[in-house]
Order: sequence, then C-alpha cells, then structure tokens
Amino acid sequence: MKEQDMQITLSTTKKEKPKAEQLEFGKTFTDHMFIMDYTQGQGWHDPRIVPYQPLELEPSSMIFHYGQSVFEGLKAYVTDEDEVILFRPEKNFQRLNNSNDRLCIPHVDVDYALKALKTLISIDNDWIPRAEGTSLYIRPFIIATEPYLGVSPSDRYKFIIIMSPVGSYYKEGIHPVKIAVESSFTRAVNGGTGEAKTGGNYASSLKAQEVSEKLGYSQVLWLDGVEKKYIEEVGSMNVFFKINGEIITPALNGSILPGITRDSIIELLKHWNLPVSEKRISMQDVYDAYKSGQLEEAFGTGTAAVISPIGEFLWNGEEMVVQNGETGELSKKLYETLTGIQTGKIQDELGWTTKVEEKITL
Ligand code: COI
Repeated sequence: MKEQDMQITLSTTKKEKPKAEQLEFGKTFTDHMFIMDYTQGQGWHDPRIVPYQPLELEPSSMIFHYGQSVFEGLKAYVTDEDEVILFRPEKNFQRLNNSNDRLCIPHVDVDYALKALKTLISIDNDWIPRAEGTSLYIRPFIIATEPYLGVSPSDRYKFIIIMSPVGSYYKEGIHPVKIAVESSFTRAVNGGTGEAKTGGNYASSLKAQEVSEKLGYSQVLWLDGVEKKYIEEVGSMNVFFKINGEIITPALNGSILPGITRDSIIELLKHWNLPVSEKRISMQDVYDAYKSGQLEEAFGTGTAAVISPIGEFLWNGEEMVVQNGETGELSKKLYETLTGIQTGKIQDELGWTTKVEEKITL
C-alpha cells in the first residue's frame, strides 16, 4: 500500500486538552485516529485518518462474540529541542504481527503501519504532553468485524490507532507498588494465548485483580498455570528480581508476554555489564532469597508502567516487604535511564528512538 493512498479528514473542532497534573492513564483521546479495513481477497484497504469518533459495527460482528482481537501499546515523547520521538516502534508492529499469527488475523505491513502512525502523530502533535512523567500513549489494535456467529477466523477486520495523553499508569507513580501472588486463578498456559497481546488475556485477569485490590494490592503476580510454582508476569508488566547481585527475569516460555520494555532492560543491563539472566524462577526461590536477606529489589517493566518498583509481595498470607517498601537504587537508575532515552535527555547509545520528522500544523 502506498502512502498517498491515505485519506485525511481533519476534525473541525478541537477538544480541550487536560492539564498535565490532571492526566490519568487512558481516559482522554486526541482529536484524530487512523483506520484501515481488511477484506478477504482484497487485503488491507482504505487507510484513513479521521476525527476521533465512535465506530459503527453490526452487533453480529465477530469481535463481540469470540474476542478475535489484538493490540499494542507504545509511547511518543517531545524532547527539549521540540522533536517528537518514538521508542522502538517497529518492535510493537512486529509483535502485533506475532499476535496476529496466534489469533488468525492477517499481518499488517510494519513500515506502512509506522508511516501511518507518524502521520497521525504529526497531525495531533500538540496533544503530546511535556511535563515530567507524561507522554502520548498510542494504542494500535485490530478487531474482527465480519457479521457472523459461526466460530471461525473473520473475513473482515479493522486496524485502528488511537492516542491518549497520559500520566503514570499506577496512582503510586514511581513509588513502589504492592503485588499479591496469585495462587488460585491462572492467566495462561503453554500453548494458550499468553504470549500474544490479545484482549482475552486481560479479561480473564480481571477477577484475580479485583480480589487483590480488595486486599489493598495494585495487581497480581501470575504463577505458571500447571504447578503454580514458577513466576510468569504481573498484570500489566513483566517482572525482575535482584537477588544477591544477580538480576533475574523469568525466561519466555510461551505463556509470558515478550515485553519490549523487558527486552530493553535486559539489553541495558548487559550494556552496563551487570549480571542479568532469563531463567525459570519459582516463588519459593524468591521467598528463600527474601528470608535470607538476599532479595535486594523487585520491579515490573512495561510500556504503560515503564519501571515500577515493587515494595511488597503477599504470598500464602505472608507480607514480604522488599527494600523497606522503598525504591531501590537499580530500579531508580533504570527508570531514569530509560525515561531519559525516551525523552531525548540521555544519549540513545543503543539506537532505540525514531524521530517523527514531519509536523502538520492545522
Ligand atoms: C502496555 O504496557 O502498553 C500495556 O499494554 C499494558 C496495558 C494492558 C495497560
């Protein structure tokens, strides 16, 4: 598909932008969105940027019944030099295609999707917040739109990109969150959809999250679905532990989301020559390290959450307080380095940022 195929219809009104201090995660949306359609036999067609608006879909659209959908999350930032930058955006569209494979959804062209995103950002660039800790969160997603009640892959889809100016994901900000280890519910098993970014994984996590929130915890830590022993991930983040100097994250095993922030943190730690390993780690290993005073830090990583220090785990009724419930040095350094690279304040030695060159002023 060629760039000139894209139709642009600008909004005639501009919505009021929330003040930086009022920004919450994912509640306000920019003036425009990108859409393109897929029809079997025709491929992806009719790419367009239109004012942000409700969708008109038949109630029989397959997305409403069988949940055939995938999504991504990435962020845009403005630098002090007024340049707009994206963090490893091609990784998101590559992962979208991996999720598409698992959900029987046709691939999108990674270069075209990136071009479409850059055009959308250029149009809505005045929506990117500048205050510390804020960014423009970008949500590309695909839904099955064929009106049909049989269970089979849809023959029609919509690929949509919406954008939202955001503050921090957790109300705690960079302050440590409390996480409850989930011992009854299961998020995913090997061979399931755990490594795909699909809505169903998140829908099935809600019950456990609701229970943990009632106990005063922000999210749950998922264990493997078979033995309920090995650590997988937290609700919206991958997880890392610093044990006796070694930084450990669960190895990808088919049921863990391959986080782009996770990958960036591993790369960064290797770049700093710090000992980092991806391996199977049980909750008992973490507990033993805690008991012997070797659990030095724990933190979550994710696009929305960035780096979120974990100050406490609840496991089998026992509260395990990590680092006196305070942010550890490594979590702080990783947060500052990653957000520094993302906002252009720290030199991007690893070549992770991409500029959005063009600015369209309305
Ligand atoms: C992200 O970190 O971008 C995610 O997709 C997590 C989300 C469910 C808020």
